[in-house]
Amino acid sequence: MRLPIIAGNWKMNTTVSEAVTLVQEMKATLEQVEGVERVLCPPFVSLSAIKELLQDSPIKLGAQNMYFEEKGAFTGEVSPRMLVDLCEYVILGHSERRQYFREDDNMINKKLKLALKSGLKPILCVGEKLEENEAGKTEDVVSHQVKAALVGIEPLKELVIAYEPIWAIGTGRAASGEQANNTIGFIRRIAAGVLGENIAAAIRIQYGGSVTAANTAEFLSQPEIDGALVGGASLKAAEFVSIVRQTAEIKK
Ligand code: PGA
Repeated sequence: MRLPIIAGNWKMNTTVSEAVTLVQEMKATLEQVEGVERVLCPPFVSLSAIKELLQDSPIKLGAQNMYFEEKGAFTGEVSPRMLVDLCEYVILGHSERRQYFREDDNMINKKLKLALKSGLKPILCVGEKLEENEAGKTEDVVSHQVKAALVGIEPLKELVIAYEPIWAIGTGRAASGEQANNTIGFIRRIAAGVLGENIAAAIRIQYGGSVTAANTAEFLSQPEIDGALVGGASLKAAEFVSIVRQTAEIKK
């Protein structure tokens, strides 16, 4: 049995005080839900304040990115050594990082290796562009991304993968549950080729891209989909709590 995991990717939203308020709004209700791992990924600058708020809480924290060196002259970057005291998870290879910050497969592979070595649990994002989807290249693209990211990785069941079709992110145009389930099943088979059947059967694979309280059931009722990486809807306390609650109900 894979423990479902819902992560909120707040992206570049919220000041520290807004982030604290958002956590205060959802904390009590989110803590009551059982059987779902709950992860909040606020901006770096809010991690410390939120960590304080979540002492002794089952709600976990994640970062949205990290650099692939432990320390040194890399002005403005944040290393896994700095993060490991603050959070448990780190999102890597998000399509916005690939697109706007030119992160390539090699960089993402280096980040993944260092994250695991440092004791952070990665949420590795993969997904195809609209034109790739329309050209029937989805499987080629995600297969390449998964294999490239996992080169030289020790098989670890702590790995989480998020399948996020780029055309579905922030657009309100989500994939269908069946479509997402098929691609996620395919990703699990690719992961099995690299990490072995047992690890691939144990790792959690999320769907991401315009997930809301209204379409949670469509995705989470699919057998291959172990959770969601939620952007916009994770900034609304009641909506995020509803996504987590529905997941608990569907997967119990
Ligand atoms: P969205 O973002 O839910 O706003 O589409 C998801 C993500 O980018 O992780």
